[in-house]
Amino acid sequence: MTQKRKIMVTSALPYANGAIHLGHMVEHIQTDVWVRFQKMRGHDCHYVCADDTHGTPIMLAAEKQGITPEALIERVKAEHLADFSGFHIGYDNYYSTNSPENRHFAEKIYRTLKDSGKIVSRTIEQLYDPEKQMFLPDRFVKGECPKCAAKDQYGDNCEVCGATYSPTELKNPYSAVSGATPVLRTSEHYFFRLGDCADFLKVWTAGESVRGDGVMQPHLQPESLNKMNEWIEGGLQDWDISRDAPYFGFEIPDAPGKYFYVWLDAPIGYMASFRNLCDRTGIDFDAYFAPDSDAEMYHFIGKDILYFHALFWPAMLKYAGYRAPTGVFAHGFLTVNGQKMSKSRGTFITARSYLECGLNPEWMRYYLAAKLNARIEDIDLSMEDFIARVNSDLVGKYVNIASRAAGFITKRFGGTLAADLSDTALLDTLQAEAENLATAYEAREYARALRDVMGLADVVNAYVDANKPWELAKQEGQDARLQEVCTVLINAFRLLTIYLKPVLPKLAEDVEAFLDVAPLTWQDAGALLLGHTIRPYQHLMQRIDPVLVDKLIEANKQSMEQQNPTPESAIEPLADTITIDDFAKLDLRVGKVLACNFVEGSDKLLQFSVDLGFETRNIFSGIRKAYQEPEKLVGRNVIVVANLAPRKMRFGVSQGMIVCASGTDDADGLFLLDVDSGAKPGMRIS
Ligand code: MSP
Ligand code: ZN
Repeated sequence: MTQKRKIMVTSALPYANGAIHLGHMVEHIQTDVWVRFQKMRGHDCHYVCADDTHGTPIMLAAEKQGITPEALIERVKAEHLADFSGFHIGYDNYYSTNSPENRHFAEKIYRTLKDSGKIVSRTIEQLYDPEKQMFLPDRFVKGECPKCAAKDQYGDNCEVCGATYSPTELKNPYSAVSGATPVLRTSEHYFFRLGDCADFLKVWTAGESVRGDGVMQPHLQPESLNKMNEWIEGGLQDWDISRDAPYFGFEIPDAPGKYFYVWLDAPIGYMASFRNLCDRTGIDFDAYFAPDSDAEMYHFIGKDILYFHALFWPAMLKYAGYRAPTGVFAHGFLTVNGQKMSKSRGTFITARSYLECGLNPEWMRYYLAAKLNARIEDIDLSMEDFIARVNSDLVGKYVNIASRAAGFITKRFGGTLAADLSDTALLDTLQAEAENLATAYEAREYARALRDVMGLADVVNAYVDANKPWELAKQEGQDARLQEVCTVLINAFRLLTIYLKPVLPKLAEDVEAFLDVAPLTWQDAGALLLGHTIRPYQHLMQRIDPVLVDKLIEANKQSMEQQNPTPESAIEPLADTITIDDFAKLDLRVGKVLACNFVEGSDKLLQFSVDLGFETRNIFSGIRKAYQEPEKLVGRNVIVVANLAPRKMRFGVSQGMIVCASGTDDADGLFLLDVDSGAKPGMRIS
């Protein structure tokens, strides 16, 4: 190796409110393979990641589960890390964006940007939930699509007709948090003036940097560059970086009640995770982040978050006085059996379920790597192809080489390999490929690298068939020849292991133990293992039993409910203590349902006519989902909050409320309360 490079690598930070699935795995496997390759080449390569912990969804998820956001993100981080470790993802640090380092850098970057005039404040109008008393992010406003009138569409786009719009354009909007009708409210927000950075971004996006080994590295893939050009030419809008309380995140300095938007501190989380690593291990942070740094910094991301990484992030770094990334590497999305991952089809496969079903993580590492290249293309996991490919390549072509040669070495030669070889043609062929394969890994052309490695395995298997060690073993006077053929095969296997090691780190470790050698590096491909004693062969990898794959799909079909189990903590915490006088303020009465009907234009409400003994009330109740046959409710008793102030709704005035049992999750259902027979309408509940 000529030049030792200093490299920092990241995968996108997974949100702290969802399980890791195979889509995430694509990215972390792609990154991990690259990092392991760089380390095998002898470079200083540091791989950092973290959970992305801030924002409204995480705040609300914690509330729903009856725990603090801090408790939620701590639990989820442990789960994420266990999942990733299970797939042998070898981070040097896996941290959290809710860390002191991240607060420090977020504040520092914000202050610097502000001092240089890159931050402005402006009053904006936004939808506000008057019941929950919070501003609603677009995804938390639902209503009818302004274009096609489809119901229950999100505030930013319609899943039925694909229209995009602003949440204020929705018809009959409602808050996905409380169901209340949102109102427009003004608020002061802070903006990052991205338009001011257009000149820099035009140059940076089209530019390249020098790698530590002198090679030029374009900052973006050609497809990304085209997209960014479109965006830059379309005019760069100011970026809203503040959110109002209540919000889980970092409060903005000198702006009480205002918080950094999660996407401001998320990429800064890369820096914070690296800083934390530096502080623990003595790496020189500034050597990586100073504006004139000669270290390389790469971000592996999905195509959906390019805008943040190819525009906001480089601009933030640049104008806060740091270096910009050396490369942003985007990948496409994972589909399963040719379709978007789907919970109902059982193809929304969690990392946990894969491991729990007893599938070997290296099967998936190999399969996904064999499909990955440097372009932004979606990649498909076809279950049939997965089984066929792993069984034929890894077990049939590669692992079998060792199992066919090792037995003879152990039984006939005390485990010792021949001291020299008369014919090294096969091994020369394999060794000659080391640099080509390195080039493919470096360029993230894993599909090409693995195709070439399997091509070499084919050549080795042809050598086995031509030299037939099992026949040599039966022939008199062929001992030296048998030892030589098997030594060639063990060496071929060792070389193939080096080339596969970035993808199959655990298997490579087992091979190192079998060969009784130190951890293999790329440079080791330049030498052969001769006159050396190896250990007895033990089976290295099973074939995939298709039954396991069926089990996996089944497990994920059921996991709709399992994924959101009602955790024990989901019991709502007990409300504050009240006095008997407080209770007396509540006038609860027995009511008899006289009529109950659907409400036209609402898929939530039922309209009741309830006899309270002394009068009949009209009451709207949001329980349609739980009671789909309203006529069946006629004649039964219910409990009514009789002294609740009447409420004007879109469909009429509701004169009271029917009480209902419910859990913390919609999926828990709704249950009307009944009274024993004999009770009369109008009786008070006390
Ligand atoms: N938290 C943000 C990233 C912040 S980075 C400073 C986020 N999180 S995420 O959990 O939604 O996604 C994390 C990564 O997984 C993203 O790069 C995303 O593109 C990737 N993937 C999520 N689903 C995916 C597939 N189905 N296929 C491939 N990658 C996918 O975005
Ligand atoms: Zn629509």
